[in-house]
Amino acid sequence: MTKVGVLVGSLRKESFSLKLAKNVMSLFPEGYEVELVDISNLPFYNQDFDDENNVPSEVVAFRNKIAELDAFLFVTPEYNRSVPAVLKNALDTASRPKTDNRWGKKPAAIISQSPGGLGGFGANHHLRQSLACLNVPLLQQPEAYIGNVATLLGENGEITNESTLEFLTKFVQRFIELIKKY
Ligand SMILES: Cc1cc2nc3c(=O)[nH]c(=O)nc-3n(C[C@H](O)[C@H](O)[C@H](O)COP(=O)(O)O)c2cc1C
Repeated sequence: MTKVGVLVGSLRKESFSLKLAKNVMSLFPEGYEVELVDISNLPFYNQDFDDENNVPSEVVAFRNKIAELDAFLFVTPEYNRSVPAVLKNALDTASRPKTDNRWGKKPAAIISQSPGGLGGFGANHHLRQSLACLNVPLLQQPEAYIGNVATLLGENGEITNESTLEFLTKFVQRFIELIKKY
């Protein structure tokens, strides 16, 4: 069983990112265990945690969770043309201590979204920049910038737009091809 962790860059109850993530999770075939990874309870990363050997229990639990997963899907909005702090904090938290980067060499894919037309391009590429530093092999194509997201979802958060569903199905297939290489 391949374990895929899904990290959502929004803590909002009605988050479009979360709704999209849930749709995409259901597109994985048998043999994949896909779970949402909670990042809402993480403290802001402080290097003293590690330097003083005083790591909060939430941080220990999160690092262990990331260590046990095989691959990651990031679904995120864009905040001021970049990655929301809550998601960047999660990346930083499991990247340290430097000798024990929990993300390294595990394949990942990014979906960014926006209620506007740009589809979170800035967040998507800033996230790529950090993941390159963390030695994460990333799905390059297709890129997923989901714009005008509110128009693509129904009342219960389901994707109602046929071509978006087709695109995301293809996206997951490509992601699986990448995962199988590692
Ligand atoms: C602090 C903040 C900054 C934002 N900056 C951007 C932005 O740069 N680009 C954009 O398309 N939307 C921006 N938005 C709007 C978000 O895309 C919108 O609130 C979206 O619904 C957030 O994703 P969510 O539904 O998953 O919470 C911003 C929202 C907030 C709260």
